[in-house]
Amino acid sequence: MRTYTNVKDLGNLNAAIKEALEIKKNRFAYKHLGENKTLLMVFFNSSLRTRLSTQKAGMNLGMNTMVLDINQGAWKLETERGVIMDGDKSEHILEAIPVMGSYCDIIGVRAFAQFENKEDDYQEKILNQFIQYSGRPVFSMEAATGHPLQAFADLITIEEYKKKDRPKVVLTWAPHPKALPQAVPNSFADFMNEADVDFVITHPEGYELAPQFVRGAKVEYKQDKALEGADFVYAKNWAAFADPNYGQIISKDMSWTVTTEKMALTNNALFMHCLPVRRNMIVSDDVIESPQSIVIQEAANREISAQTVIKRMLESL
Ligand code: CP
Repeated sequence: MRTYTNVKDLGNLNAAIKEALEIKKNRFAYKHLGENKTLLMVFFNSSLRTRLSTQKAGMNLGMNTMVLDINQGAWKLETERGVIMDGDKSEHILEAIPVMGSYCDIIGVRAFAQFENKEDDYQEKILNQFIQYSGRPVFSMEAATGHPLQAFADLITIEEYKKKDRPKVVLTWAPHPKALPQAVPNSFADFMNEADVDFVITHPEGYELAPQFVRGAKVEYKQDKALEGADFVYAKNWAAFADPNYGQIISKDMSWTVTTEKMALTNNALFMHCLPVRRNMIVSDDVIESPQSIVIQEAANREISAQTVIKRMLESL
């Protein structure tokens, strides 16, 4: 595997889940693969889970790991060609990327949507420059339009906790005080559309996701109706995708918060969220603290999704 940015990069999804669950049973079985190999994790944005779980995954595989926070201690990077660099950016990304590549064997990149230009975000300009110029296998640790390590962990978690062959999985928008990227819901939809689940997306009108991620999924604008019979409720906020509101908050409707009353509409559903989560905006204290909440188990599976991807990249070196 040379790149990991979306569900297709995993190939056969059932085989990938099986491999992940095998790794989970014995996470040090492939320690020899990473001997004398270096994982570089490059962060343009903050992280708790991705940073720790991916570093742990690399260590489980016997790798040396390095972390670079671009905005804390590194030179500020210019990302556009043709710019006269007379401002505060000291280095161009087109030199920085191959230099980073020369110090490592595999690179993970986190670079969120900037919400300044929709085309730039949806062309994944930063992630794709790493793929093009680093000379190394590159995986997304959440880029502008996707968070495939999260979605893979989500799918592994659903596989572990499902009580029927084809569970109903509902992705619901929920309110948030800040404008958040569409990366997590995009990738969740990308994976659920390929998985053996009955997948429904619910959100207020105006929050439609990009069609290349929604594909054939059912979209239901009435949250209560969508939740009926759900086996898994996956809550997430995202800012508007559709023009002219790209990157903006168009609703903070608190009636979309996932509460005990909302969960009562479901088939005793399990509650999921990628974390970090704003309590009593996205989900009530009662729901996230209930036995139905599997957010911690979901986060723990981030180590397993990362390890499966990095293992495949090590095997391709
Ligand atoms: N879910 C997730 O990616 O968490 P972090 O932003 O803390 O890495």
